[in-house]
Amino acid sequence: MMRKHILLLAVISILGSAVGSGSPRVVRAAEDPALGERIYRENCAACHGEKGDGKGPEAQRLKTKPRDFTTGIYKFRSTPSGSLPLDQDIFRTISRGVRGTSMLAQLQLSEQERWAVVNYLKTFSKRFKEEKSRQAIAVPPAPLANSKLVALGKSKYEEAGCAQCHGADGKGDAPSAKDLKDDWGHPITPVDLTLKPFKSGPNPEDLYRTLSTGLSGTPMPSYADAFSPKDRWALVSYILSIATHERARGMMGLVGEETQAMMIDMRAAMAGMMGGRRMMRGGGGMMNRDMNEMMKDMMGR
Ligand code: HEC
Ligand code: HEC
Repeated sequence: MMRKHILLLAVISILGSAVGSGSPRVVRAAEDPALGERIYRENCAACHGEKGDGKGPEAQRLKTKPRDFTTGIYKFRSTPSGSLPLDQDIFRTISRGVRGTSMLAQLQLSEQERWAVVNYLKTFSKRFKEEKSRQAIAVPPAPLANSKLVALGKSKYEEAGCAQCHGADGKGDAPSAKDLKDDWGHPITPVDLTLKPFKSGPNPEDLYRTLSTGLSGTPMPSYADAFSPKDRWALVSYILSIATHERARGMMGLVGEETQAMMIDMRAAMAGMMGGRRMMRGGGGMMNRDMNEMMKDMMGR
């Protein structure tokens, strides 16, 4: 029992340190355009394309297409619908990946390298020069979950018409939603809300954020205006109450197109696996840098 708790703490601290937003010193050091460009070419271009248009050589065989960065439209943000993401939002996605898609956590990169590539991504869209980013939507502390809150969430789910896309039971199989497209013209299916892990992230706050900001570029709207913070938290409670199953796991616990990504993005996959191994030994933070150097040696670079 005790062991389990220690393991859990180790996992949380590793995730925490990997996702942390970094000291100002690291951020400054990362304002090196040449570094960002090199990191991008070596780690991202295969999927996202040399020009950042999402048309890398591997994109064709992926069902969920890599993001086209030239439009400046980002799904995973803390900012209001339609606005630019904050740097921390981009950093968070790069550090965590998008579960179930080929976008793996890029933990083969040091924090400095991840910040450098954040800055490089922003050069693909002129929106980052022309528009000011807006303030993050506040995430108030979660109220205590109880059956009343879940029931309120269920009634809001019905009231808002979530079922039109996600289905009456949340399984993402509403007949009216089978021909949905995203802003780039790719087919998109509403997420099955009964299965974990979620794309948005592992914490209830991540679901709250998605309900508040919407996923720009997709049919998933923002509910910041329609629902009060309490109602949004009730919706989160309801979702968590139906998210009782795990997505089918393949090797190394990978889900969905993460498995395809193993072949394309081997260094990120290895970094994830090494992190896993270290956790098994109950060790502390993952040394991303060591991993990166090691892989470079292995690949003769
Ligand atoms: C194996 C393919 C693959 C590689 C390699 C890859 N990505 Fe991705 N990336 C994706 C896919 C697919 C998505 C779209 C996920 C979705 O829309 O649900 C994505 C989404 C993203 C997003 C989310 C943008 C948003 O809408 O919020 C960011 C940021 C991102 N990638 C950055 C990177 C960076 C930086 C690298 C390299 C360090 C990288 N990716 C490497 C496939 C890849
Ligand atoms: C018009 C269709 C539509 C409606 C209405 C809609 N959604 Fe969505 N939702 C989507 C789509 C499509 C996605 C998947 C986006 C993607 O994969 O990038 C999504 C994604 C989500 C996610 C993110 C899941 C994850 O893996 O992180 C949550 C949570 C969610 N929806 C909840 C809701 C709730 C609750 C409502 C009602 C208040 C709602 N949605 C209404 C289409 C819709």
